[in-house]
Amino acid sequence: MKLAIILTACLFGTVFAQEGLPGGWNSLSTDDSTVNQLAIKSVNHHNSVNNSAYYKKLVKIQEARYQVVAGFKYEIKFLIGKTECAKTGNYTDSCQVAVNSPTELCTYVFWMPPVDKDRITSFDCVATNEDVLEKHLTINCEVFIN
Ligand SMILES: *[C@@H]1O[C@H](CO)[C@@H](O)[C@H](O)[C@H]1NC(C)=O
Ligand SMILES: *[C@@H]1O[C@H](CO)[C@@H](O)[C@H](O)[C@H]1NC(C)=O
Repeated sequence: MKLAIILTACLFGTVFAQEGLPGGWNSLSTDDSTVNQLAIKSVNHHNSVNNSAYYKKLVKIQEARYQVVAGFKYEIKFLIGKTECAKTGNYTDSCQVAVNSPTELCTYVFWMPPVDKDRITSFDCVATNEDVLEKHLTINCEVFIN
């Protein structure tokens, strides 16, 4: 009898997981406008808190997902690259990521409570060993050629 109840619970659990449980993660398009705004906010945050002497710039958003938890939680993964613009000057749109500059993969989590201000609940950037920027440019070229 007990076993039957557990089995039933498991079956229901599976069904709910497939439908997307409330509170579970849902993937978002990297083209989503909120995702893009949050990625820009994240890079600005990184530039203001990190001790790098040069500004870093968004290269590509790789993944985004959200969760419904007392408002919304967004997790954004993106690549940044080091520009040739030193932080002793101002950042402008002409600051470019040099082709061979190291890239980093960042993961930022935002929480947007229903009434309070948005906040960053966690952030982390790690160096990527491979030259992701070059790879990214190559992929773009392939798409262009096709
Ligand atoms: C700056 O960012 C790098 C990775 O991008 C990280 O390893 C380092 O700990 C950060 N430094 C500070 C002071 O946040
Ligand atoms: C940077 O921007 C500030 C405010 O917009 C301006 O006063 C300053 O002259 C700028 N500095 C440089 C080096 O362009």
